[in-house]
Amino acid sequence: MKISVKGPARDLAAFFLLGARRRRHFRRATSAPPAAGAMNRLAEKLHPGRLELAVESVRFETPDTRTFRLTRHGGGELPYFRAGQYLSLKPDIAGNRITRPYSITSLPENALDPGFYEITIRKRDGGFFTGHVWETWEAGSRIESSGPLGWFGYEPLRDAKNLVFLAGGCGITPFKPMAADILGSFPDVTILLLYGITDRGSIIFKDDLSAIEEAYPARFRVVYVDSGPAASGCDDRRVFETGFIDRRIIARYVSSPRDATFYVCGPPAMHRLVESEVGSFGLAPGRIRREAAGDTIDVAAEPGYPAEKHGRQYRLTVHSAGGICTIPARAAESVLQSLERAGLAPPSECRSGECGYCRSKLLSGKIYGINNHHGRRMADAGFGYFHPCSSYPLSDLEISVPVDPFVRRT
Ligand code: FES
Repeated sequence: MKISVKGPARDLAAFFLLGARRRRHFRRATSAPPAAGAMNRLAEKLHPGRLELAVESVRFETPDTRTFRLTRHGGGELPYFRAGQYLSLKPDIAGNRITRPYSITSLPENALDPGFYEITIRKRDGGFFTGHVWETWEAGSRIESSGPLGWFGYEPLRDAKNLVFLAGGCGITPFKPMAADILGSFPDVTILLLYGITDRGSIIFKDDLSAIEEAYPARFRVVYVDSGPAASGCDDRRVFETGFIDRRIIARYVSSPRDATFYVCGPPAMHRLVESEVGSFGLAPGRIRREAAGDTIDVAAEPGYPAEKHGRQYRLTVHSAGGICTIPARAAESVLQSLERAGLAPPSECRSGECGYCRSKLLSGKIYGINNHHGRRMADAGFGYFHPCSSYPLSDLEISVPVDPFVRRT
């Protein structure tokens, strides 16, 4: 649009005529859909709904943790991303189509040249998905995935210049690329990583973190916080504390917590502990950034969950794709898990209540929503919408779920 200034009187007259001119343009406009322009093509390239990936190689990080290097099936660049983002993988396991979010552990520039992402997965005892990965993923395996997603990244306009990363176990995964990328891009930023571990012999990314410390000795420091039986001290030049990441340990290394931005990623129990400890410093809103990292493993441990409901089973009446059916739903599982088991899952990406892709409507019944990351908009909550990935049935439910546009239905 051309904008020119012609003086107060003529500009005022032009302003009053704006509405009439706009209505004239609307009358003349064609009703045909616009052709996909350059911006649409760029948006699709940067934010594809789906990616077809292939495993290029696999390497061990620890005995129970592997890093998978993924390339675009058929070759070529991958969408650029921001360090801290994740991929939502879409495996079909024994007829169940599920989703699992995993942080990208390679650097953003690796997506362009030579064109790969890496994800790092720790095997869980009895884990439905990780068991499948361990048995079937090898070089050449094909994997469907979302494009890069999530908001767990550094924002120079929003965040402080002193960053404190609080990681627990495999919650370290987003922090490795974030540390390297932020330190390389912002010379005035310093980062302290407090890394909760349980076994000093099995630390994910130990050597990578040491390499980043050596590259930025004045700006990056790693302190391991060991809740296993070993005593505190230094080992191989690495600093160890004993116990859990709490206010005492944070205060020992962060001289002015109110001048820092804290990032938290780890298991739910660590989120609960760390957020109350960090919150006790009286930080300004927005100074704690969280990555919830997928399903809640034990809803009974969540604050306010009615323990007497835990072992129950309910009926879920589901309106989907123009039909209605009734399926069983366990109180201990999220509504999304019950829908996936029945092949009725709505689209989902984060599995922790944040992205909103699984947004569905609660027509009747009662649910428990995970407080920390039940990320509904206020209007959604008011009009009965909920996120099945972070909601658990407390009674029989009747719900309406959207159809995943990427799932072919027969
Ligand atoms: S999958 Fe992200 S909010 Fe449910």
